[in-house]
Amino acid sequence: MIRLRNLERSYPLGKEKFFYVLRDINVDIQQGEFVSVMGPSGAGKSTLLHILGMHDHGWKGEFFLDEAAVHHLKPKERATLRNEQIGFVFQQYHLLDDLTVYENLDIPLSYRRYSKNERAALVGDTLDRFGNLHSSQGEEIMELFRKLNDEGMTIIQVTHSEKNASYGKRVIQLRDGWIVNQ
Ligand SMILES: Nc1ncnc2c1ncn2[C@@H]1O[C@H](COP(=O)(O)OP(=O)(O)O)[C@@H](O)[C@H]1O
Ligand SMILES: [Mg+2]
Repeated sequence: MIRLRNLERSYPLGKEKFFYVLRDINVDIQQGEFVSVMGPSGAGKSTLLHILGMHDHGWKGEFFLDEAAVHHLKPKERATLRNEQIGFVFQQYHLLDDLTVYENLDIPLSYRRYSKNERAALVGDTLDRFGNLHSSQGEEIMELFRKLNDEGMTIIQVTHSEKNASYGKRVIQLRDGWIVNQ
């Protein structure tokens, strides 16, 4: 389970001034949820995803992942937790021709008691079917997300697409750094 409490992210904006990208974020995401983060450009969606993915640590507030208080972890402990618990598929799907997406899909599966062969089948089959990647790729990825979610994996995606969001069961709406709906 993910729990964010009074989380905020800001960047310095000159002398003693800050630009707030995320403000007072309070979110609970249960194990096995499929959540879409939506909102206009600049709302803070990518920032939120990178915080949840433990790529960014320059935030304030509380972030619990199950029993772990991420806000209290040392960088090395956070890296271990991230490697064990989190897979990250980068925005757009244009990284498919290197190994990043495969690895990103493979790592979380490896912690869900899939054998190496089962993982290879699940991830490899899906990726093999892409061939040349264009408009159908998004749908293939969404189908894989659905499959992983059916297996119990928590999925959090950022999307502008209502169709992609419809794969999930919940939408978190951001606007100007605030959650306006969840
Ligand atoms: N490193 C940074 N320094 C300053 N401002 C940033 C930085 N990263 C993002 N921002 C600003 O934070 C706001 C939200 O960015 P982002 O999370 O990428 O929004 P979204 O993904 O919803 O379009 C934008 O106004 C962006 O310019
Ligand atoms: Mg973005």
